[in-house]
Amino acid sequence: MEWKPNRSDKKPIYKQIADYIEQGISSGEFPPDSVLPSERALANELQVNRSTVVAAYEELQALGVVERRKGSGTRVSTDIWGLAHKRIPNWGRYVEDGSFLPNLPLVRRLRTETQKNDLINLASGELSPELFPSGQFRTILSETPFVGQLGYDHPQGSEMLRETISLQVKKYKNIDVDPASILITSGAQQALHLIVQCLLKPGDAVAIEDPSYCFSLPIFQSAGLRTFLLPVDKHGINPDDLVSLHKKHRIRMLFLNPDYQNPTGTSLSLERRKRVLELSSEFGIPIIEDDPYSLTSFNEEVHPTLKSMDTNGNVLYISSLSKIVASGLRIGWVIGPPQVIQRLADAKQQVDFGHSVFPQWVANEFLGSEHFSTHMDMLRKQLKQRRDKITSSIKELLEDQIECSIPEGGIHLWCKVRSSVNEYFLLEESMKKGVAFVPGSIFGSGKGYVRFTFGRGETDLIHEGIVRFADALRSIQ
Ligand SMILES: Cc1ncc(COP(=O)(O)O)c(C=O)c1O
Repeated sequence: MEWKPNRSDKKPIYKQIADYIEQGISSGEFPPDSVLPSERALANELQVNRSTVVAAYEELQALGVVERRKGSGTRVSTDIWGLAHKRIPNWGRYVEDGSFLPNLPLVRRLRTETQKNDLINLASGELSPELFPSGQFRTILSETPFVGQLGYDHPQGSEMLRETISLQVKKYKNIDVDPASILITSGAQQALHLIVQCLLKPGDAVAIEDPSYCFSLPIFQSAGLRTFLLPVDKHGINPDDLVSLHKKHRIRMLFLNPDYQNPTGTSLSLERRKRVLELSSEFGIPIIEDDPYSLTSFNEEVHPTLKSMDTNGNVLYISSLSKIVASGLRIGWVIGPPQVIQRLADAKQQVDFGHSVFPQWVANEFLGSEHFSTHMDMLRKQLKQRRDKITSSIKELLEDQIECSIPEGGIHLWCKVRSSVNEYFLLEESMKKGVAFVPGSIFGSGKGYVRFTFGRGETDLIHEGIVRFADALRSIQ
C-alpha cells in the first residue's frame, strides 16, 4: 500500500485511515465482501498502533460500510453495494465540509453527560424541572379550549401572543412597542441566528462581550464574521473599549447581554448603558440587546433596558421565555423597526414557515393570566435561595480556593479557581465524581474560570454538587 497517513494533518490518523478505506471501497479497489487487511497487518503496514486501526475499522463499521466478526476479520459489506457498483457518498467528508460549524467537542460531550441521571447538573443553562410552571400549564391545558387556526401562522407569529408581549414589555420593561414590530422566534437563539444571517455579511466586524454566551460564538463564526472582544468587568463592558475597537475595525454591530450576563452574572451599570447608547448613535452602530434574564432580579432593583432608553431606534431587543418559564417551549421574540422585523420574518418563513401554533397559544394563555406573576414571584424567591445555597456551600468548602462574583439575578455563578489548574482535567475529574459544570474557556474567557448554573441544580443537590467539585479539585491539585 503506497498511501500513508499524514502525521502533520490536523485530522486524527484513525479518521484518515477510515476515509482512505472508504474511498477505496467507493472506487472499487476494495470490492464488496472482500476481506480487508487484519488489524495487525494494516498497523504494521502504516506504522501506526493497532488501536488506531481498530478505531478506523470501528468508524467504518458504524457507517455500515464494513462488517466485523470475531475470528473472520473485517469485510467490506455486501448489502450496501448491491449488484451494480454504486458509489457511496463519503458522509464523513460532507459532515466536515458543511458551512454551519458543529458545536465544540466538549459542548457535545457535556450534552451527553448531563443526560445521565446520577450526575448533578450544574452545567446546563436552564431552569431545573422543579422550577417550571408545570402545574399551571396542566391547568391551562385542561380548562382552556384551544382556539386558533391550524394552518401556517403569520410569519411574525401569533397576533394574540404579540399583543400580549407588547403589554408585558410595557409593564415590566417600560418598552413601548406595537405588535407589528415584534417577531416570535424559536427562542432567543433563533433570533440571534436570523439577525446574523439577514443583517450582516461575511467579513463584517462585530463586537461581543468577553466572556460571552457560548452558543452565539458558532453562529458568528459560521457566518464568517470577525468578532472583536470587549472585556467584561463587574459593571459590564467598558464603552471606551468600543471606541478603540471601532476606530480600528469599523464595528458593524454590537452584541450585549446587559442583565445578569451569561456567564459572568454581571449587569451593565446605568452610566455605561447611557454611554453605550450615545456611542451607538455617534457611530451608527446597531446594538443587539439580548435579555433573557432581567426579570429574575433578586432584589427590587430593575435596570432600565437599553431598548427602553433608546430614543433613536438603534437597539434590536431580544428576549425569551426559556430562563423564566420553560426552555422547551421555544418561545423568544425580537423587537425592532418594522422593516427589520419584516426582513427577519421573511427569513423565518423561508426557514420554518413560521412558528408552531401550540406553544404560542399556551404561552399566550400563561403570560396573559395571573399565573405569570405568581410564577415569577416563586421563581425569583427560589433562584435567590439557590444562589445563597451555592455561595454558602462554596464559602464553607472552597473559600480559599475559588473566588466568585455574586450575581443579583439570573441563573449563573462565575468563579475563578485560584490555583492554576487545567479546567478540562478538573471537569473530567468532577464528572467522575458525579458533578458537571462548564469550563470558562468555552465562553472565550481566559484560563481557570468555571461556570455553575445554580438555576439548573436541584435545591437538595446543590450542596452535594459542590462537595463533589471540591473533592475533584483536591484530587487534581
Ligand atoms: C444570553 C443568552 N442568549 C440567548 C440564549 C438562548 O436562549 P433560548 O434560545 O433558549 O431562548 C441563552 C441561553 O442560554 C443565553 O444565555
